[in-house]
Amino acid sequence: MCNNTAMIVELADSPGMSPDEEAFAGQLLDTINKASAALMISVGYRAGLLDAMHDGVARTSEELAALADLDERYVREWLGAMTTAKIVTLDPATKSYRLPAAHAALLGDSAEQGNMASMFQFISVLGNVESRIVDCFRTGGGVPYEAYDRFHEVMAEESDATVVAGLEEHIIPLASGLLGALESGIEVADIGCGAGRAMNTLAARFPNSRFTGFDLCAETIERARDEAAAQGLTNVRFEQKDASLLEGDARFDCIFTFDSVHDQAHPATVLSHIRRLLRPDGIYLMQDIDAASEVADNLDSPIGTYLYTISCMHCMTVSLAQGGVGLGAAWGEQLAIAMLNDAGFSSIETHRLPHDIVNLYYVCRP
Ligand SMILES: C[S@@+](CC[C@H](N)C(=O)[O-])C[C@H]1O[C@@H](n2cnc3c(N)ncnc32)[C@H](O)[C@@H]1O
Repeated sequence: MCNNTAMIVELADSPGMSPDEEAFAGQLLDTINKASAALMISVGYRAGLLDAMHDGVARTSEELAALADLDERYVREWLGAMTTAKIVTLDPATKSYRLPAAHAALLGDSAEQGNMASMFQFISVLGNVESRIVDCFRTGGGVPYEAYDRFHEVMAEESDATVVAGLEEHIIPLASGLLGALESGIEVADIGCGAGRAMNTLAARFPNSRFTGFDLCAETIERARDEAAAQGLTNVRFEQKDASLLEGDARFDCIFTFDSVHDQAHPATVLSHIRRLLRPDGIYLMQDIDAASEVADNLDSPIGTYLYTISCMHCMTVSLAQGGVGLGAAWGEQLAIAMLNDAGFSSIETHRLPHDIVNLYYVCRP
């Protein structure tokens, strides 16, 4: 790796290089530096270093290691990466390091709105399956959910930041009348509910309503049930179920999907089940990735590369692993609206929310 980097630097200095090549060599160096910083943010988040630096106090590596109860040698190397990445500042005279307040505000706890640190964990979660993905490039097929170490844990943290933290203040008000209905008492479902934090949060907040979370994965359903039991909730239940096999007639007043349509094996079938399970005056609120359906229209997206990468390494491939259509994370607003129309939703509003730059919110009515 070091040899390759040295080679690029040499190339960048090479007098025979065209201006375009020189510019691109610089772009590549910038890319490897930023990819490295992404890994270090994830490490610092998990090791508790970002938390320890949250107060903005300047500390030496020894002081920080003692505060976070970590090995000083590792902390010092991490600080080297974070300082050269311009995330942490260094006072060379005292060899003390500080996380500026503006940076700390965005690299905080996952339960805080606007936290961005937890999403960096996806880089290493995806890196873990790289060899299997490369095999899929040759053979087709996909990589199943269970192959992803820590995926559901990281997803639950991401859900804390984008869904749970914004539920009452931002998400529920998107659908007029929903807050009052939840207070009076309605039937609510969350399909692809993951670890069930949204359902458990709503069940605690709205005791007159009843909540059901469905997910394919046994591990997340168990986690959701454990959390409900720990909170003593009696108005929420979780069912392990393939969303493409949901049965029955209209029985829900509100159905949510949070980031869980695009990686379905059979998303069109799931959307038609959602429409059928919804009462005639019901609301379907779909949170899904904010992208356009055509690559050419995503060139200016601030997260375009991240979306296509997470899709290639996870969302598309888990769908293909189930024999599905492999819609992909960047299925986009235009295709989403066409599929919602096909499923029988005639009224669809879309909203962007300031606390969640990754997703678009679709409020759909039959
Ligand atoms: C990206 S995660 C989102 C989880 C959760 N909604 C959240 O926001 O944290 C997608 C979820 O859909 C679930 N899922 C995937 N395919 C499914 C299927 N066929 N039926 C039910 N759930 C499925 C996965 O197990 C996973 O928990």
